[in-house]
Amino acid sequence: MFTKLKLSLYFIAIAMSELMMVLKRHSQNYRSVKMNRNLSGILSKLLASASLLAASAVFAAGNTSAEQSQYLEESRKVAQEFMQTLGGALKKQLALGGAESAIGVCKEIAPALANEYSKNGRVVKRVSLKNRNPVQGVPDAWEQNVLAGFDLAQQQSKPLSGMEVSTVRDEADGRWFRYMKAIPTQAMCLQCHGQPSDISEGVRALLLKEYPQDKAVGYSEGQVRGAISIKRLLEVAPATN
Ligand code: HEC
Repeated sequence: MFTKLKLSLYFIAIAMSELMMVLKRHSQNYRSVKMNRNLSGILSKLLASASLLAASAVFAAGNTSAEQSQYLEESRKVAQEFMQTLGGALKKQLALGGAESAIGVCKEIAPALANEYSKNGRVVKRVSLKNRNPVQGVPDAWEQNVLAGFDLAQQQSKPLSGMEVSTVRDEADGRWFRYMKAIPTQAMCLQCHGQPSDISEGVRALLLKEYPQDKAVGYSEGQVRGAISIKRLLEVAPATN
């Protein structure tokens, strides 16, 4: 019974996401049509909630559910290990040398860890609606929807710890298992991601130099800083001529 409900929510989410794309295209063509924009805003909120509700409707399509629950377990483990290793290194460097010296840890270790975990058909990244890393940090369309859903859930005071979404999606290049886990902003993150008053001048200058396109500031404790996103290719799309 629950599975059925979750599956229907999943399909509603997909239908709404398609509708959104049509509306978006439409409102791009007719920028003056305000109503469409409003409607599209409401729909994105609905879509975000539906994606979250459908979070555990993991296996609507694709390979056997045994395989998929294995991928889910594996993704949870990778996400946890990744965040623990990075968090540990960051904390240590903050204590040893302060925030300015810890920028290097984030810049070097985060992408290195992401590469290390990206193997055997798996891709691991950290993404954000306000990214700092100009390459790995940019979310794709599905990730944007999930991140918007995380934000909405946080605004509704849902606990962020353990907040995750997983699904199977047919994309242009094939069928993917997708997983995302919310990354909450903690107090110690504010030294580099907080309001201007939280960030020292030295850190601000270094960030500006290393990340001239930086969007990852202005956060408060308890907000969603971003998510760890893991995907695994299940099936390559058949070649089309
Ligand atoms: C010492 C400064 C510093 C601190 C403290 C810090 N970060 Fe970052 N953060 C960075 C830098 C630099 C990057 C870009 C790393 C890269 O190039 O991949 C980054 C990137 C990220 C990203 C990847 C998405 C993006 O914006 O590109 C996430 C998620 C993130 N940080 C979360 C956190 C969280 C959560 C905390 C607290 C537990 C934290 N950070 C603390 C400097 C910091």
